[in-house]
Amino acid sequence: MDGSTLIFGAGWIGTAWSRRLGATLTRTDIASEEAVRAELARCAPARVINAAGATGNTSVDALEGDPARAYRSNVVGPLVLASACAEAGIPFVHLGSGCIYEGDAGGQGWTEEDAPNFGGSLYARTKALAEQALSDFDVLQLRIRLPLSATPGPRNLLTKLLSFDRVVSVPNSVTVLEDFWPVAEALIQRGERGIWNLVNDGVERHDELLRVWREHVDPDHSFDVISVADLESRLVARRSNCVLSTAKLAAAGLGLPPLDESLPRLVLEYAAGPS
Ligand SMILES: NC(=O)c1ccc[n+]([C@@H]2O[C@H](COP(=O)([O-])OP(=O)(O)OC[C@H]3O[C@@H](n4cnc5c(N)ncnc54)[C@H](OP(=O)(O)O)[C@@H]3O)[C@@H](O)[C@H]2O)c1
Repeated sequence: MDGSTLIFGAGWIGTAWSRRLGATLTRTDIASEEAVRAELARCAPARVINAAGATGNTSVDALEGDPARAYRSNVVGPLVLASACAEAGIPFVHLGSGCIYEGDAGGQGWTEEDAPNFGGSLYARTKALAEQALSDFDVLQLRIRLPLSATPGPRNLLTKLLSFDRVVSVPNSVTVLEDFWPVAEALIQRGERGIWNLVNDGVERHDELLRVWREHVDPDHSFDVISVADLESRLVARRSNCVLSTAKLAAAGLGLPPLDESLPRLVLEYAAGPS
């Protein structure tokens, strides 16, 4: 992409994206107006990406019971960034989440215009509130879901699933990060604004993904399929299971590849390790 990019949030996605773009990565507290303004003045970036947020790191369960942290990082912080970027005339890109829905909208998938219908976790409630507030600003919001990558890591859906001995079998939209980067960058380069569902075409089911792993990598990998009710009885917060519409992306000629192509490729690259 042209010009310099400043990425707030030195977590999984912020770090990976900054490496790919050669961007500046900052740990500046996004909820501090003073610190954000100073960082923008110091770096004078061509654009800002917000990859900071309170995610609970290993699980959204870890965020339950800490509303001060959740609202500060997921709602106040994005608004501070959006305001400071607007003031300085810097384009702003925010990483949102599709985990604000449940279900598949009668088979159509939830569009960018549909109102959120899932508030089963503090995390989801804060992400929905931020998305709504940021819609009043001239910013680009990229909704991702259950991200996976060929590089193992504690926040990678594939790494998590491989460590579980029980999974549910429910259709979900997911985002393969290797497919996400070029599409997100094209939207940024085009100067797009508003909300965009950045998920691959098709749906993932956790048990089916693990069967792909079994087929291509480890025939002995074992797991049980359990019901959503059984899973939820073991968790603190509910989990969103949902399918997002990719019609807006497709209409822009920017769809992410279908999962039946992308997931087997990802599994093989993941198993092969770093090249
Ligand atoms: N990975 C997913 O499943 C997923 C799905 C949909 C959307 N997203 C969104 O994508 C973004 C990046 O996610 P990720 O997977 O990279 O999460 P991550 O690894 O937890 O990274 C988030 C980073 O933000 C930092 N942070 C928290 N509050 C901050 C603040 N006030 N100021 C500056 N930094 C702060 C965290 O630091 P500490 O660890 O020290 O708190 C962490 O380094 C988040 O907004 C997340 O909601 C992620």
